[in-house]
Amino acid sequence: MSDFAVDIETLRKRYSNGVEALAGVSLQVPYGSIFGLIGPNGAGKSTMVKSLLSILRPTECRGTMLGEKIGNKSILAKVGYLPEHASFPDYLTGRQVIEYAAGLANLSRAACRSRCDMLLEKVGMTEAAGRNIRTYSKGMKQRIGLAQALINDPVVVFLDEPTDGVDPEGRIDFKNMISSMRGDGRTVFVNSHLLAEVEQVADRVAILTKGRIIKQGLVEDLTRRDARYEVKFHGQMPVALLEWCHQQQMKIEGDRITCRADGPLQIQPLIDRLRAALVVIREIKEERFSLEELFLQAVTQSREESATAKGGKP
Ligand SMILES: Nc1ncnc2c1ncn2[C@@H]1O[C@H](COP(=O)(O)OP(=O)(O)OP(=O)(O)O)[C@@H](O)[C@H]1O
Ligand SMILES: [Mg+2]
Repeated sequence: MSDFAVDIETLRKRYSNGVEALAGVSLQVPYGSIFGLIGPNGAGKSTMVKSLLSILRPTECRGTMLGEKIGNKSILAKVGYLPEHASFPDYLTGRQVIEYAAGLANLSRAACRSRCDMLLEKVGMTEAAGRNIRTYSKGMKQRIGLAQALINDPVVVFLDEPTDGVDPEGRIDFKNMISSMRGDGRTVFVNSHLLAEVEQVADRVAILTKGRIIKQGLVEDLTRRDARYEVKFHGQMPVALLEWCHQQQMKIEGDRITCRADGPLQIQPLIDRLRAALVVIREIKEERFSLEELFLQAVTQSREESATAKGGKP
């Protein structure tokens, strides 16, 4: 059996209008992790989730989810889903939406009541549960959407743009709720273009553009690659040390030295030399690429590559 909750060897989806939304994607989501699928509008993120949930029929798909072949509908009993732009009948109350989902999940009346209460509490909607959806703000609807996605105690939860329309304070709640799903042992698959948010919550990410994954891995590893260190000093730098820094491709501007390094070990020789030359070190700062920088870099690079392949200007 696969070690991964979602293990896609290849997934391709061409819509009937000829749009190739997914061009043979491969990705792995370890059990118990939070996985962020990030990409610009139209990248294929929702198509990916809908294909995994059998809402769409992929053109080609080889892979497993929870140990079963993708496409096998029996897996869906262990899956939760918050669709993008989720909308619920606005004449129902928040509680009735969740009860309806409980009915679909075949929960007994007693289990339904206790689970509804627990989930309403969890998403901060206990007080508003008896009001009609039509009186809810967007953020409140998303909270109910999140609760209904958890009604069947799923092993894996798919959240398609969960914080769409949610205000900054609410987003912090969502971040905590998503983290707590991992704490409950669930695997969470989040689609988003809000990179800073994904960076704070996800263990692994994949960057998808135009139906292709151009990078995937642990957030920690991806953002550490090409990390920079900035060393601020005080005093005069001896000429020999300046020359050594230049030889090492370090940049010196005013009272700061910037160098590329994968980890702290690589900047020790600089520190040793500064100390030996009695130069005072005022500050050492590690600067990682943020997910946003990494994303923009990867997307620009992929655009340039495809323009070059077509023989045009990037
Ligand atoms: N039902 C459909 N029929 C034809 N083309 C579609 C259909 N649904 C999506 N597409 C196209 O497939 C591509 C991927 O769309 P998708 O909705 O998966 O992107 P997305 O990454 O979720 O975008 P967003 O961030 O805007 O939600 C787009 O070019 C889109 O126009
Ligand atoms: Mg989408």
